[in-house]
Amino acid sequence: MTKENDAHILGIGGLVHDANFCLLDNQGNPIFVGEEERFCREKRRGGFPTYSISYLAKSYHIEVSETSTIVFSRETIPDDKDLKSFLKSTSASVVHVNHHLSHAAGTFYSAPFPEAAILTLDGLGDSICSIMAIGRGKRIEKLAALHYHHSLGILWMRTGWFLGFMADHFFSGAKVMALAAYGKPVYEDVFRGLFNLYADGSYELNPGRFPIESVARFWEKEKPFFLEKALGIPPREPDLPVLQVHKDIAASMQKVSEELTLHMVRGLHRRTGLENLCLAGGVALNCLQNARILRDGPFEKIFITPNASDCGNGMGAALYHYHHNLGGERQWYMTTPYLGAGYSTDEIESAITKAGVEYRIPESIAKTAAMTLVQGHVIGWFQGRAEIGPRALGNRSILADPRKPNIRNYLNQKIKHREWFRPFSAAILEGKVPEYFECKGDFPYMLFAFPARPDKADKIPGVLHVDMTSRIQTVSDKNNPLFHGLINEFYIETGIPMVLNTSFNDHGEPIVNSPTDALRRFLASGLDALAIGPFWIERS
Ligand SMILES: [Fe+2]
Repeated sequence: MTKENDAHILGIGGLVHDANFCLLDNQGNPIFVGEEERFCREKRRGGFPTYSISYLAKSYHIEVSETSTIVFSRETIPDDKDLKSFLKSTSASVVHVNHHLSHAAGTFYSAPFPEAAILTLDGLGDSICSIMAIGRGKRIEKLAALHYHHSLGILWMRTGWFLGFMADHFFSGAKVMALAAYGKPVYEDVFRGLFNLYADGSYELNPGRFPIESVARFWEKEKPFFLEKALGIPPREPDLPVLQVHKDIAASMQKVSEELTLHMVRGLHRRTGLENLCLAGGVALNCLQNARILRDGPFEKIFITPNASDCGNGMGAALYHYHHNLGGERQWYMTTPYLGAGYSTDEIESAITKAGVEYRIPESIAKTAAMTLVQGHVIGWFQGRAEIGPRALGNRSILADPRKPNIRNYLNQKIKHREWFRPFSAAILEGKVPEYFECKGDFPYMLFAFPARPDKADKIPGVLHVDMTSRIQTVSDKNNPLFHGLINEFYIETGIPMVLNTSFNDHGEPIVNSPTDALRRFLASGLDALAIGPFWIERS
């Protein structure tokens, strides 16, 4: 490594699931944020991020064993062969940062706020499921912590298992969230009764209704019998149909989760008196809940980093060490989510040649892509460096025409092979949001869902969920000029300033990372065309 790189700090997270890492330069700027699943092609793989680190060595000529400090987002090192062997190979000093402080740091130091109240919410990490904190300048001060026996994230997961989504193990919450829109919260009192709320904004799970042992043994995948008892309904078997009762249970969980998080942020606001809020942890990926906190909560502004779940904890741990421990100045905040793997035009062309497919180089890849969408086709869009976090933000995306009413079923059945109730997102030109949705502002990371304006809903059925909301991503010429150009061309042609955007992957597969991944997925799927770098490939 060069001399100026000597101060590189390597943050590593996800030693149990969602392995990830982040490399800071000697000014504290994240220069690469990697999620192991993208490189090893196994969704949510945990452990030491061997594949990502090999990529760094090969493509960036960075040997991470030569970094000055390695920061783990965990208080203890698990028994991991690859990790132990890596530690033997390096003379770097090793630092540990608590899991929830990593969550807090990942969002606070990425936010454009000099000070903010911070709330983390997840399943668990280092035996904790939530902290409240204050971020001021370089420092983060923890105000309160909640033991994981009271975990909202685990309740989401267990509700998912109850509804038959056991196969998704830790991560069934997203399906419950999607299903919630189809139900009515007829069981809200049952879910509300699980919690004891306190005046300072804290809460505990009611041990009489939600036995501690059912949370403490959550990883055993035992069916959540406490819900069966509380609801008076048996769990849904995974191969049986989703009935109205299951939709109603999901809707009840969503509603009570929104109420609970509102209770917490109100308490945090009373305690801190600050205007800005940073949210982090896997529960902060709940877009309806985030929008509710923004609409009904006391904070003026909310920031959530796009990798708010455990996949961003390597970044959080590294930033915490740089700013809080070492006192490094804050000169960076997140202006781009495109911090993942990137490939040169030569590398892309070589992958295309290897795949043996014909291509051409249009004058404008953005215009060609937009015109293809206008004709009703569905395309893969692979450009620049990969986005961080679980949502595709226009560099590893599948795109379609939002005006088509049947596009959701087509994409779910034929392209993504996933449940019929999963929604799609709208990537919309910055400044056009209030014309189409009941909200104002910019939301570049697809972390908030808002209702469509009633006079516009029938123009964009493809991106609206059954409750007439959409997770939105605002796109500007500044944050992604090429993707902005594509949407703008679509707007010029149709008068609609948005496209449907969903992640470029198949069900159960990580988002494509390399040109080879993109070509493989294109060739195996029903996509009509692929824009990959400057190259345009049509299905023959
Ligand atoms: Fe976490």
